[in-house]
Amino acid sequence: MNVEELEKRLAQLADTAVAELGETTEREEAIQVKNRYLGRTGSVQQLMPVMREISNEEKPRAGRAINQRKNQIEEAFEDKLDELAQLELKRRMREESVDITLPGRRPDVGLGHPLRQVERELISIFDELGFEVAEGPEIETDYYNFEALNFPPDHPARDMQDTFVLTDDRLLRTHTSPVQVRTMKAYDLPIRIISPGRVYRCDSDLTHSPVFHQVEGLLVDVGVSMADLKGILTAFAQRCFGEGTQIRFRPSFFPFTEPSAEVDVECIFCDGEGCRVCSDTGWLEVLGAGMVDPNVFKACGIDADTYTGFAFGLGVERIAMLKQGISDIRRFFENDQRFLEQF
Ligand code: PHE
Repeated sequence: MNVEELEKRLAQLADTAVAELGETTEREEAIQVKNRYLGRTGSVQQLMPVMREISNEEKPRAGRAINQRKNQIEEAFEDKLDELAQLELKRRMREESVDITLPGRRPDVGLGHPLRQVERELISIFDELGFEVAEGPEIETDYYNFEALNFPPDHPARDMQDTFVLTDDRLLRTHTSPVQVRTMKAYDLPIRIISPGRVYRCDSDLTHSPVFHQVEGLLVDVGVSMADLKGILTAFAQRCFGEGTQIRFRPSFFPFTEPSAEVDVECIFCDGEGCRVCSDTGWLEVLGAGMVDPNVFKACGIDADTYTGFAFGLGVERIAMLKQGISDIRRFFENDQRFLEQF
């Protein structure tokens, strides 16, 4: 082989190498092609023995040709790597780019149970009105749940049908009123508390659940009157059900208050016009209330000649059902996400 033939051969090799590199679409593939031509046993190396056949004068020319073609292939390889790197970058930019105009995905955040939400609202309303939160146990004694609250021994509310009795002297409290007694016995006067919590009664239908929630209120001071009770409850009703909401007192009876009243709020569905929810009366019953009975003061060691007070109790489920338009109390306790997520 002479130098011209060698040059031709090298040119062919370089051309096919460049063409093959041009076809590659991956880095590994390009490296393989390069090695096939420039590697230790590659096509260019295989031409080396030919040098022996070339005359001494022509050797430098042959050497230049070899280097030139090697460089040509090397350059094509480097260009290819750059090109593939650019493509890879573009692909990643395209695939990994974030469309900042898309609305964000909302994470599922936990929310308060609808009853808890209403309870919190009630606490905050009474907090504004100056009432502190006091708590008591759900397992009570007959004394705190009934006796100290002036229930006569044969009062029907003590009936086993209403009260979940645990042992001889332990029962599940049937109302939050025992917290009145515990607070009056434990704290100095004046007292201005509300007591939210669970209560239990053996009763179950669309509007009654064996476990439900009440908020008890108690205010004891010198010179407290029924007018104060009405003032506080009016302020409460307007914050809870909307400005201008009227309330009315109907005479009632509770052993621990005298006088006692059922408190109605103007129907929030018909604004007092009369509708199905309020049975055409225009009023919704939401509270029991009254002036603390002197016998309760006596049981708590408070001088009923100096002090007077009022108490009230409301059902959290009842308020929640009214405010949220829920007709079946059991929804609150089924823990159905589809229901709970609506609040
Ligand atoms: N404890 C009463 C009930 O559960 C409600 C009430 C509380 C009434 C305080 C008057 C005063 O029905």
